[in-house]
Amino acid sequence: MEYGHFDEQNREYVITRPDTPAPWCNYLGSAHYRAIVSNTGGGFSYDGDASLKRVLRDRPRSLPEDRPGRYFYLRDRDTGRYWSPTWQPVTADLQQYECRHGLGYTTIRSARDGIAAEVTYLVPIGEHLELWMLTVRNEDSQSRTLDVFTYAEFCLWGMLKDLLNLQASKYVGIVRSEDGVILHETRSDSGPPRGDEVFVLHRAYFGCGAPPASYDVQRAEFIGPHRDESNPVAVERGRCSNREYFGYDPVACLHLPLDLGPDEAKTMVFALGVDDEGTEWRHKLAHYTDPQNAQAALDDVKASWAQHLDRFRFETPHEGMDAVLNAWNPYQSANTFLTPRGYRDTSQDVLGIMHMLPGEVQTRLRVMLAHEFQSGTTTHDYSPEEEFRLRPGETRIFGDGELGPSVPGGETLEEQLGTPSSDAPLWVIPAVCHYVRETGDFDFLQERIRFFDGGESDALDHLSRILDHSWRRRGLYGLPLIREMDWNDSLNMSEGSVTVWGGMLFIWAARELAQLLRRPEVGRDPSSLDARADEMAENINHNAWDGAWYARAFFPDGEPIGSASCEENQIDHMPQSWAIITGVASQARARAAMDAVRQRLLTPYGLALLDPPYTRYEPRYGAISAIPPSMKENGGIFNHPINWAIIAECMLGRGERAWEYYHAILPSTKNEIADIHQMEPYIFSQFVAGPHHPLHGLAGRAWMTGTAAWAFVAASQYILGVRADYDGLHVDPCLPPDWSGFEAVRVFRGATYHITVENPDRVSKGVRTVAVDGKPIAGNVIPLAPVGEMTSVHVTMGAAG
Ligand code: GLC
Repeated sequence: MEYGHFDEQNREYVITRPDTPAPWCNYLGSAHYRAIVSNTGGGFSYDGDASLKRVLRDRPRSLPEDRPGRYFYLRDRDTGRYWSPTWQPVTADLQQYECRHGLGYTTIRSARDGIAAEVTYLVPIGEHLELWMLTVRNEDSQSRTLDVFTYAEFCLWGMLKDLLNLQASKYVGIVRSEDGVILHETRSDSGPPRGDEVFVLHRAYFGCGAPPASYDVQRAEFIGPHRDESNPVAVERGRCSNREYFGYDPVACLHLPLDLGPDEAKTMVFALGVDDEGTEWRHKLAHYTDPQNAQAALDDVKASWAQHLDRFRFETPHEGMDAVLNAWNPYQSANTFLTPRGYRDTSQDVLGIMHMLPGEVQTRLRVMLAHEFQSGTTTHDYSPEEEFRLRPGETRIFGDGELGPSVPGGETLEEQLGTPSSDAPLWVIPAVCHYVRETGDFDFLQERIRFFDGGESDALDHLSRILDHSWRRRGLYGLPLIREMDWNDSLNMSEGSVTVWGGMLFIWAARELAQLLRRPEVGRDPSSLDARADEMAENINHNAWDGAWYARAFFPDGEPIGSASCEENQIDHMPQSWAIITGVASQARARAAMDAVRQRLLTPYGLALLDPPYTRYEPRYGAISAIPPSMKENGGIFNHPINWAIIAECMLGRGERAWEYYHAILPSTKNEIADIHQMEPYIFSQFVAGPHHPLHGLAGRAWMTGTAAWAFVAASQYILGVRADYDGLHVDPCLPPDWSGFEAVRVFRGATYHITVENPDRVSKGVRTVAVDGKPIAGNVIPLAPVGEMTSVHVTMGAAG
């Protein structure tokens, strides 16, 4: 069954039934304040840090799923019948329903019993608050008397505390009403200690600018015993309790009467915000609950996204690709970036938004480099918000819920907070290099940046130290020690094991930095980096070629994994793709390795990460062997690294294969198989169950995945082949051979390039001619145009001359 479709014009995904196979969500807001909202009004919010400062409660793994949320109840005062305009939580039948997830907002429209309702949720730019705009229209021929009730369940403390120490969080919340506004306060241990004070005060508010007829501040009073959000006693009764007491489960439930003549419509705006100092809420409420100001805030959100997305637009022969590339893919990348998910993840997330938010990337890179130790390693996690910075000795659930490191008893700061993974620090090197490619901001490299354990040096020196540190930590065959893991979090091999793929990541980072050093703007000697990269490549080719593909890793005694000689996990596609991306493989090896990938790992839903998956737990492989076969890292169709296979096939010029792998993971293709895939068909999920699982094709973990950034890179920079380079825009597409071409508009260093690619001979790869403003140029790097200029670029593909 299909549950929705793209509205490309408005950059929206339109959901046409509320009973989607899973909650189909949207992410609203900025790094400061985030609201996650589902197509039926479910979801939670947080302010600055997802684990430490929740605003609205999430009850993970509860049934029914996706509760609570930002709820409205509409009640007909004459009949006592009530329903939710967002379908949940009442789930009464709606005569009309449509959810439009847009970029930065979600609108849900519905109708029942002659009453039409429209709810829009948004976070105004730069604010620590969210708005719920409700418009109700009486489509009946007679007047109607209604009651509106709201429901928001506060959780203004650390999420861990709510899960692990409920007896503490349960009795400490202060909640009261003042002039019809619900005010909630807690002391939480989420902030930095101020002197002897470990607890900090958080304050939140909820109001609508009009005095309510009644209200509730306690969940138990509103819902009543032996009931749930679907049938609150207050709604059934038509009146809240007005009872105020502290502790327990603070909620914000307002009751507002609404009388509507025939065809009359009224709009009410509710604001939910955080105001720790308690100085702003009156002013914010007064401003934003005015429907005109709320509408202006919505217009600003829309305009801001339109501006970001207009920096790179595409028109290809594939509609689904256009819908994804022109809106949802960069939007998802921005959202993964805005939800900091650890050092290695952010360093990759920035690759998907470099063109769109270079200023934000610069700020974040500065923060990331400031999380480097003098030794050249980095922390594993970090927070971009000063308030939530890591503290020594702390265990932390980060951003999207990953456990931060803690070395119990570690003495130095580095022992306590340094990353246990071999790859995490290296990723920031290409991130900085790509930032400079995009912006030409070589000055950034000279900036003085502090180390996490004190002292400072320039950004370039930070990058060199990371490579030195990684080089020092090598083992068997001169390959990097894998330590607790590399990119694959679950591959926790016994001590002294080495990673082949990690060696390739080292090469990538070293070559990127060497190229940067060689630039005239930098003018440093890259020879030692080149020599190390060459040596690593030699070590890999000499020791890790398994006969038809590259092995993935080795135990200290030389036993391989990802080798034909293994009983399970005989082939892993990561070292195959990376052998090509880094130029480690000869042409013959490159083709053989990628042929083996296709033969051994391809499924209708994309490439399995490895095969066959582990079927028994084996401590020396680590968590990977404890994961059920074909799930996640144990041979699931892990979408993130599939993009490296796409890039590798593009580099080999095999456009048909690159497209096949891309098409298999493209969200728009999931529309038709929504009942199998189940998750949102407009964003990438982290993985899909592989062929050894009975639910083969079912997606897992929506939204927060490095797939977003890499899919954007793979599609825009390798399939369509438009990439930023130090001296200009490189155009080098690798298309499916039946494509006649495509068009793109790219803003780069202040100029706008209209690029038309034609493919008269239906080749996959190869640029025959390039004309810039009608004049042929040599090669396929478009020189920089003056700032503010429009340039037209005409590319004809085909065999050279
Ligand atoms: C998750 C993590 C990422 C890791 C990957 C593979 O996506 O966020 O850091 O590399 O899983 O384990």
